[in-house]
Amino acid sequence: MSKKAIIVGASSGIGKALAIVLAQRGYKVGITGRRGEMLDEIKTLYPEAIFPMVSDATHPDAEKELDSLVTVLGGLDLFVISAGMGVLNKALDYSIENATNQLNVIAFTKMVNWGVHFFEAQGHGHLANISSVASRRGGRLTPSYNATKAYQSNYFEGVRQRFYKLKLPIHTTDIRPGFVDTDMVQGSGIFWMAPKEKAAKQIYKALQRKKAVVYVTKRWALIAFIFSNMPKWMHKRM
Ligand SMILES: NC(=O)c1ccc[n+]([C@@H]2O[C@H](COP(=O)([O-])OP(=O)(O)OC[C@H]3O[C@@H](n4cnc5c(N)ncnc54)[C@H](OP(=O)(O)O)[C@@H]3O)[C@@H](O)[C@H]2O)c1
Repeated sequence: MSKKAIIVGASSGIGKALAIVLAQRGYKVGITGRRGEMLDEIKTLYPEAIFPMVSDATHPDAEKELDSLVTVLGGLDLFVISAGMGVLNKALDYSIENATNQLNVIAFTKMVNWGVHFFEAQGHGHLANISSVASRRGGRLTPSYNATKAYQSNYFEGVRQRFYKLKLPIHTTDIRPGFVDTDMVQGSGIFWMAPKEKAAKQIYKALQRKKAVVYVTKRWALIAFIFSNMPKWMHKRM
């Protein structure tokens, strides 16, 4: 029987690329996002495998919409959160900070809680989130982005510990990309930018291996190490 996955935030970017990889490998994939026409386009590529649902993760009905999507799929084995916001905010405009927090922290927590309760009731499953290498340190150009990604990685550590203590075969994967060529990345000449298709294949492999943490692409583990261990006096000058 085919495995079932839901990707929250799969109308574009990494979520879309991962939905395609999963569909090509026999999964039934529920995809969400606010832009229905983009979700429908993905459905036309794999009509038998892709099940779109227009859903805003920040909306109070988001959990009910996930319940409906599970019913449509006929179950759930893998739940991936790829919805995220990251905008350059040199002027420190509070409305940008607040919108980032609403999606990357408030809605993220709601989605993770939904997934945790679903998989605990079921007794098995796999929960994954796309955080970022940016989770490792603060950043002056995108302070809320880096901070919310640190929250996400830290939250996943807590959830991982919870499943371990409960002795349940529920896996977690914290996916930490560097730069991936999607709408979110602004600017040109960005170093080590990976095509989203390559990133999605590496994410799929990590999910198959049930890795707790994965850097995408692999070389970004080095940057994350340097970033994490950089002395404070050096970091503040960046
Ligand atoms: N690209 C990178 O270099 C990079 C690096 C590190 C981490 N990441 C992370 O990867 C994840 C995916 O980003 P991406 O690069 O693939 O960018 P993207 O192409 O902009 O994708 C973001 C996805 O999130 C969805 N989304 C946004 N707000 C939503 C909401 N309120 N409710 C439901 N879905 C929502 C968008 O769909 P709609 O607009 O249709 O709602 C879209 O499908 C993010 O968490 C991002 O922080 C990206």
